[in-house]
Amino acid sequence: MAEDSTALPTQLAAATLIDVASSSPVESLKAEFSDRVPIRSIISRPDGGAGLAGQRVRVGGWVKTGRKADKDAFAFLELNDGSCPGNLQVIVDAAVADLSPLVPTGTCVAVDGVLKLPPAGTRQKVELRVEKVIHLGQVDPAKYPLPKTRLTLERLREHVHLRSRTNTIAAVARIRNALAYATHTFFQKHGFLYVHTPIITTSDCEGAGEMFQVTTLISEADRLEKDLINNPPPSAADIEAAQLVVKEKGDIVAQLKSAKAEKNEISASVSELKIAKENLARLEERSKLKPGLPKKDGKIDYTHDFFARQAFLTVSGQLQVESYACALSSVYTFGPTFRAENSHTSRHLAEFWMVEPEIAFAELKDDMNCAEAYVRFLCQWLLDNCLDDMEFMADKFDKTCIERLRMVSSTPFERISYTEAVELLEEAVKNGQKFENKSVKWGIDLASEHERYLTEVKFQKPVIVYNYPKDIKAFYMKVNDDCKTVAAMDVLVPKVGELIGGSQREERYEVIQQRIQEMGLPLEPYEWYLDLRRYGTVKHSGFGLGFERMLLFATGIDNIRDVIPFPRYPGRADL
Ligand code: 4AD
Ligand code: MG
Repeated sequence: MAEDSTALPTQLAAATLIDVASSSPVESLKAEFSDRVPIRSIISRPDGGAGLAGQRVRVGGWVKTGRKADKDAFAFLELNDGSCPGNLQVIVDAAVADLSPLVPTGTCVAVDGVLKLPPAGTRQKVELRVEKVIHLGQVDPAKYPLPKTRLTLERLREHVHLRSRTNTIAAVARIRNALAYATHTFFQKHGFLYVHTPIITTSDCEGAGEMFQVTTLISEADRLEKDLINNPPPSAADIEAAQLVVKEKGDIVAQLKSAKAEKNEISASVSELKIAKENLARLEERSKLKPGLPKKDGKIDYTHDFFARQAFLTVSGQLQVESYACALSSVYTFGPTFRAENSHTSRHLAEFWMVEPEIAFAELKDDMNCAEAYVRFLCQWLLDNCLDDMEFMADKFDKTCIERLRMVSSTPFERISYTEAVELLEEAVKNGQKFENKSVKWGIDLASEHERYLTEVKFQKPVIVYNYPKDIKAFYMKVNDDCKTVAAMDVLVPKVGELIGGSQREERYEVIQQRIQEMGLPLEPYEWYLDLRRYGTVKHSGFGLGFERMLLFATGIDNIRDVIPFPRYPGRADL
């Protein structure tokens, strides 16, 4: 069984509402920092809100659908405030407000009213009869980009700033939030310290050269180019003239000194000389300015750059978090990472979030145990805390997503070596299984279709593949005694393929130094990292879970661009 997860505070609050319902329900229902009652605390009660009938509440939200009824005597509004997937039915009498501006989809309203039991036979357990409209944020239905009819997720990406108003993206946002909370809960419960690793770095963790460069050289070169157009550099004649002025002023100082002139007369001429020299220096400096990037020996001279060297956006916080693990033992980082790989797949983003624990005094087996416990905890957490949103996903996107969470939270993962994985794939090919990628043989990097075959077809559960050939893995992985493989592991899950990549780290100074060189990487940016092996080295292990991949796995959504609020991918970084 997966570990018990702790209930979310919102749910604890919802549970206690029942107890206080008889005393002062509305006060206890109110949002803590807003003068309204979240719709969740009304309709997500076990009684669907029926027990609150008769209570006066203020609610706010956006109209999902609105219509006038009974010859325009009333308007029915389905109101959603994002606190849960469900809507509250709100009824406004024409005597209370002008109904026309209230009904368009997307309108924002805040209203005061009384909760009432609806007529028997209706779906909702409670509805709100409005007494006063407090706020109205109007929408011109002819212009509003989100029509009542469902847009595809692909089309919604054209309105990324408004798509959080849709049921799907709102559900994904709540599931994403729950997974982030569950992540911190899991690691904090197990004694890990949360470490903030930098986003700007000078070392390529994966050594794959897929980094975005961080530089001010280009904007500086642009600025200089404009400046030189408006204010051209001095000519040789300008410099000569300035040199002449310096000479003249120098002569005057010399004459005054030899004539033993008054002290203040000398110092006045010395000041003039100083000004002339400064002017000359300025002109000489400007005359050296050349448009374009600063160069030295034909290469870009990064000593002029902001950080006085080449810098990049991090591809992983691992190297830095290792330095904290080698002092604080069990740590994790959770932040954005960046990869400039030009992949247009449904599994890759240029900016994605990664959860990276790092454990000192731990070997590959401990690492696998941690990864398995963490993923199972996440699944159980969603079942315990996000079932309403998961039911929505099951209904609209992936019938099997809840079943998948149940299976993963309760099933031990399969563990096979890379060599065994290749044997299984070879066997599958022999039995007629077709793969698009190059032929399967020992030494290849497993393609996504191979990974998915193993987890979806062969084992039908998560699979951990370990001990990969060292030539296809990063330099920091521990070289096994066979000298051919490294103590790496990938967790493969149905629907996604690779969810986690991790390894035991090479703790032997000579070996890791050699590995960096073997991979053709420069040693200098890794010198600080090698210090962790030079001084007080320790056996340690860690992994990285792609947070958006976890969301794909949980929700059943097909494209990774729909599970991050503002996706960045080749050709797209708007908003
Ligand atoms: O396997 P990766 O490259 O491992 C690392 O970065 C290690 N430094 C982690 C560690 O040991 N601390 O990436 C880890 C995970 C992958 O398994 C995948 O889930 C996800 O990050 N990932 C991506 N997710 C979205 N878009 C991309 N471009 C991704 N690249 C990797
Ligand atoms: Mg990987």
